[in-house]
Amino acid sequence: MLGKTMSILVSGIQTSGSLHLGNYLGSIKNWVNIHKQYDSYLFLADLHSITVPQDPSFIRSCAYEVAAAYIASGISSDKATIFVQSSVPAHTELSWILSCVTSMGWLNRMTQFKDKAGKDKEKASLGLYSYPVLQAADVLLYKADIVPVGEDQKQHIELCRDIAAAFNRNVNKDYFNLPEPMIMKEGARIMSLRDGAQKMSKSDPSDNSRINLLDDQDTIYQKIKKSKTDSISEIYYDKENRPEVSNLFSIYAALSDRKIETIIDEFTGKTFSEFKSKLADLTVEVIGPISKEMRRILNSKDYLDNILSFGAEKANKIASQNIKEVKELVGFISL
Ligand code: TYM
Repeated sequence: MLGKTMSILVSGIQTSGSLHLGNYLGSIKNWVNIHKQYDSYLFLADLHSITVPQDPSFIRSCAYEVAAAYIASGISSDKATIFVQSSVPAHTELSWILSCVTSMGWLNRMTQFKDKAGKDKEKASLGLYSYPVLQAADVLLYKADIVPVGEDQKQHIELCRDIAAAFNRNVNKDYFNLPEPMIMKEGARIMSLRDGAQKMSKSDPSDNSRINLLDDQDTIYQKIKKSKTDSISEIYYDKENRPEVSNLFSIYAALSDRKIETIIDEFTGKTFSEFKSKLADLTVEVIGPISKEMRRILNSKDYLDNILSFGAEKANKIASQNIKEVKELVGFISL
């Protein structure tokens, strides 16, 4: 029998809105740097995107946008398996099996559910509540070793480890290893440009709160120019008391691959308008080529369909083998 040669990396992005700078700096950029060192599974999380009501044509166009963003940012479809989550039925099968070892108490602690369900929890869908179990299935189905994500997904990956351990206890076998979250130091939590207490998000109703990967140059300049700061003219970093200003420094650091302290030193004594103008230049320099390439790729849906169907075939191969093992372990007759 052949041994495992490479560690396994799994991650995904929901197909529920325009991809933004937070998605890029918190996850995609990291994937680009490391995906070739792993057996990487990068998927479009469309099953997750229907946990809140969505227009079907919107989901489909977002899925193409996410796929285009992966490729345009530099993920190689020869090296990574890129696929649509719903095209691999074993995700939902494993999700059910794992939901039977997940306690309601664990799910009740998930902060994302509390945030997304808002005040009227009774009206939230069961899917939104059990979403972290599906996420655990996404990761465990491929027996992932690492899961590169932004800070907001850390709690879900910790839950995934608890679910894996509970499954192992139930079947009395160390079947799943416990995957590690991998979170970047800079860029792991990019905040809204309008409110430093809220993370930059696809679902924020204000488009000015985020830089979308498909924003044109003028829009990026405008959004950064209008981004919220405060009344203190001096330049310094204080995450607690100056969240908006500190967020802009974090973005600068993540985009330029430098430490925040270096950026502060560089801009000490300068004005905020000088800083914002340099930040806008840098954002356009990094995002501009990705955005241009995304547009080009989006004009060629056949090319994307080919990548996704090839990816689905590869993912289904390993997923169907693993789900068969899982079914045998839980005691199902498998013919
Ligand atoms: P999603 O689609 O909300 O976000 C995709 C990735 O982008 C990161 N991210 C951010 N990073 C920094 N700052 C921000 N403001 C920001 N907003 C988003 C997220 O942390 C994530 O890494 N449930 C997941 C998708 C998913 C998944 C999985 C991820 C489904 N199954 C299995 C990993 C493994 C989600 O909704 O991410």
